[in-house]
Amino acid sequence: MNLYQYVSESINKKLGFTVNLETPRNREFGDFSTNAAMVMAKSAGKNPRALADEILPKLRELDFVADASVAGPGFINIKLRDDFIWRASAMPHDIKTDTLMIIDMDYGSYNVAKSLHIGHLRTSIVGDTLNRIAKYLGHHTISYNHIGDWGRSMGLVIAWIKKNHPDWPFFQPDFDPDADYSKYAMPVAELDTYYPAAAALAKTDDSFMEQARQITAELQRGHPGYNALYNVFFPVSMKSMMDTVSRLNIMPFDRNLGERNAAKYVEPVEKLLREKNLLVKSDGAEVIVVKKDTDTAPMPPVMFYNSHGAVPYDATDIMALYYRKITDNPDKIIYLTDIRQKLHFEQLFRVAELTGLFPAKDMEHIGYGTINGSDGKPFKTRDGNAAGLNDIIEMITDAVKQRVAASGKNLSSETIDAIALAALKFNDLIHDLRSDYIFDPESVTSFEGRTGPYILYTAVRLNSILRKADDATSISTDSAVLSDDERNLLIATLDFERTAQSAFDNRATDMIANYAYDLCQLANTFYHNCPILREDIDATTRAQRLQIARIARDTLAQTIDLMGLIIPDEM
Ligand code: ARG
Repeated sequence: MNLYQYVSESINKKLGFTVNLETPRNREFGDFSTNAAMVMAKSAGKNPRALADEILPKLRELDFVADASVAGPGFINIKLRDDFIWRASAMPHDIKTDTLMIIDMDYGSYNVAKSLHIGHLRTSIVGDTLNRIAKYLGHHTISYNHIGDWGRSMGLVIAWIKKNHPDWPFFQPDFDPDADYSKYAMPVAELDTYYPAAAALAKTDDSFMEQARQITAELQRGHPGYNALYNVFFPVSMKSMMDTVSRLNIMPFDRNLGERNAAKYVEPVEKLLREKNLLVKSDGAEVIVVKKDTDTAPMPPVMFYNSHGAVPYDATDIMALYYRKITDNPDKIIYLTDIRQKLHFEQLFRVAELTGLFPAKDMEHIGYGTINGSDGKPFKTRDGNAAGLNDIIEMITDAVKQRVAASGKNLSSETIDAIALAALKFNDLIHDLRSDYIFDPESVTSFEGRTGPYILYTAVRLNSILRKADDATSISTDSAVLSDDERNLLIATLDFERTAQSAFDNRATDMIANYAYDLCQLANTFYHNCPILREDIDATTRAQRLQIARIARDTLAQTIDLMGLIIPDEM
């Protein structure tokens, strides 16, 4: 049950006006408070406290209110009845979303022939969690791994291979497209070196760059040799990409379709652009002007065909919009990338408006901040390289192993992996996603504080209590007398739906992570002050506490699930 919603709607109905309801940190005087009397006093020409005194009796008539009182200059505190909390918390969480949407979610979006690195962490983790929350709320989501598989980087990789193996059949005039070329597949570790080497060379060697541009355009136009070579390294790269992604326990993408798929729709999109007179010739290229008179910041045109006749990244995103329109026809499209792509999406959304593909209000770009090292600069490995995603996972796993060894525990490798995963993902989720954060493998693996291991530890502990007490008969009373620790914990479980809703509405996955942390703290305090398994606890008390522990565990497990973490059996 969405407690906040239920209570505020009931109060609004009773009083005949909308009150602003808060959940105070200090619960001594109430579970909810409102400044309604203070807000209304002015227009009513009354003293706020006097007005509050008039409101109190009405509030007390509500069947879930145990007491209502005035504090300070006119705050109203509302305390809920124990039996109401008790019954409400026994009900399963259920969500009522008024407007269900079809949402295309574009995240992950890795690149062929470039191994996954730290820059892909947030788009993967936050994207997956946002998708899980949207699904939980009832939306129909379609996740796109919009792969970078058709642009200049492909031309660079092919040019590099050509430079090093000019004798390979792909580059010969008598190339046979029907032969089997699988023996040319290279190990991914080797493939991963090509792009950086080619990009570095292209910076200093103009003719090499020119060749890469030429190859990109020819590849896109269907050059048989280049396409056959592409088909040799593409699966090598895809497999490695998917292996790395699977280590993050994110849901499989609904569509692994990127630039190459989008480029198939160049014809209808070009037609659309020409019909609307949007394509303009410029230095041998064709561009779309997106600048408005009201712009104060620079707004460059979008390149549709470059001077070699190839479609660059910017253009493929227009085709991708077209593809999504004719397949999903979504109500909303959400893109999750590094904040540095802000301008690209601003341009794209303008093209969408100009072509009539989608109104700008239905498209959203969430730009996330950078993950930095302790020096405040983008995180690098010890040898000064940009950290690969696999390296990061190893690094965290090692840190977990060391901690576990130091504590003298003996945990299975699955458990270590689950803890490492939680450390990595929770740390990412708890940070405001639009800001930069500092990544420290040491502190994120701590078993205390705002960390993934602490969250898992609490879940494992609750599970273990419930397992040990499996003899317990569950009680079916309608009422209970609750201690402060018990009521605070149960009220927190009743905030699950609202948290999921706000996390989605605000595109703020940190709300889910913070909620998990607060819930864990309340659960641990409850267990500390309200022992369950001790011999001297009488049967009724034990049964009540067990039920509370079960509700807390179920809610925590649901929260953990939204974050894509795995609860181990032991810790
Ligand atoms: N592949 C791009 C990159 O790594 C991200 C693509 C984001 N999605 C999109 N539809 N443009 O920077």
